[in-house]
Amino acid sequence: MKLVVGLGNIGKEYDNTRHNIGFEFIDFLANKLNLTFNKEKKLKAEVAKANNIIFAKPTTYMNLSGDAVNKIACFYKIKREDILVIQDEVSLNYEIVKFAFNRGAGGQHGIEDITRKIGGKNFSRIRIGVGPDPGGDKRAKFVLSKFTKEEQEKRNKVFEDSLFIYDQWLSQPVEKIQNPNDKAHNAKLKKNKMKYKLKKGLTLWLTGLSGAGKSTVSEALIGKLTKNNKEFPLELLDGDEIRDNLNQGLTFSKEDRFTNIKRIAFLAGKISKHGVLVVVPVIAPYEEARQMARSYSKNFMEVFVNASLKKVEERDVKGLYARARSGEIKNFTGISDPYEASSNPDIELITDKESIAESVEKILNKLIEEGYVENF
Ligand code: ADX
Repeated sequence: MKLVVGLGNIGKEYDNTRHNIGFEFIDFLANKLNLTFNKEKKLKAEVAKANNIIFAKPTTYMNLSGDAVNKIACFYKIKREDILVIQDEVSLNYEIVKFAFNRGAGGQHGIEDITRKIGGKNFSRIRIGVGPDPGGDKRAKFVLSKFTKEEQEKRNKVFEDSLFIYDQWLSQPVEKIQNPNDKAHNAKLKKNKMKYKLKKGLTLWLTGLSGAGKSTVSEALIGKLTKNNKEFPLELLDGDEIRDNLNQGLTFSKEDRFTNIKRIAFLAGKISKHGVLVVVPVIAPYEEARQMARSYSKNFMEVFVNASLKKVEERDVKGLYARARSGEIKNFTGISDPYEASSNPDIELITDKESIAESVEKILNKLIEEGYVENF
């Protein structure tokens, strides 16, 4: 049998005050589990029962919570190690939730009283931050003040974090219990600091229909690679940009498309040789042209940016599909010109199903797996 106690003060005037967050969390739990509290005068608490757990809210007022906890623990023969108390913690800022076992009360009068009345501190606690602590004389008034609207809006996250500890407490030894904030915080810190380094140059060729997301994914990938390493060696050879400059005047005839691809591939090979990642988002609709492109670079990876014609035409980001359908634009890939789907790509992205972040992750993982990129 386990005992879960939420601390607070009974009475409407205490609703939504910092000191009552223990009550609020246990109400949230009871609601989740479809339990109702009944007043048990002898136990000096409102009590709800489920399977092997007693849930309780002392009706003693905060500073005498120990009376209720002691009575319930004695009545149901519950050991200190099987007691979990949910309390407000003014020394922790709001949105911080921490687990404690066998620790001093830290000035929380409810916890002090419980420790005294049950004869030891070897019980568990979920300490829900309600600070920042104003200190000194202001503290007592502050813990009895109501949460601001802004704070109330963050309540779900606070309860989710508390629940994260509660679930662990039910199933794990106390030494193993993790604090949600630490975990999330550390993961976030690590992610924010992640640096990428290029180990050898290569050409990363993204082929696909117009509007499939080649440029978008390329830019997102570049953003990620350079986020914490501005020196990451890379170059972007974007189809549209190259046609506006280097390949100005080339048409979309089969022959000119080959010339376009050949020049870009040649350039990519020259640059990637010097330890640079060259990202090339171009339609490159012919398999044969892509094979040729591959031959210009020592290291080459083909990314098939796969999106159905139906989807890209529906989206029609640049309005070109409508113009191609009306006949205004001739030889338009997918409409009046062929697109030979990539038959053996190194990476395939399904951009009408996955998010940009997922597509970027796929490419990054492959680059790491193949030893082109390392992260640390
Ligand atoms: S490729 O076929 O030679 O590889 P490239 O990627 O350089 O094409 O250029 C494609 C871009 O040119 C498209 O994103 C689109 O904005 C524009 N474009 C204009 N006319 C056409 C057309 N007939 N077919 C395909 N793309 C076109």
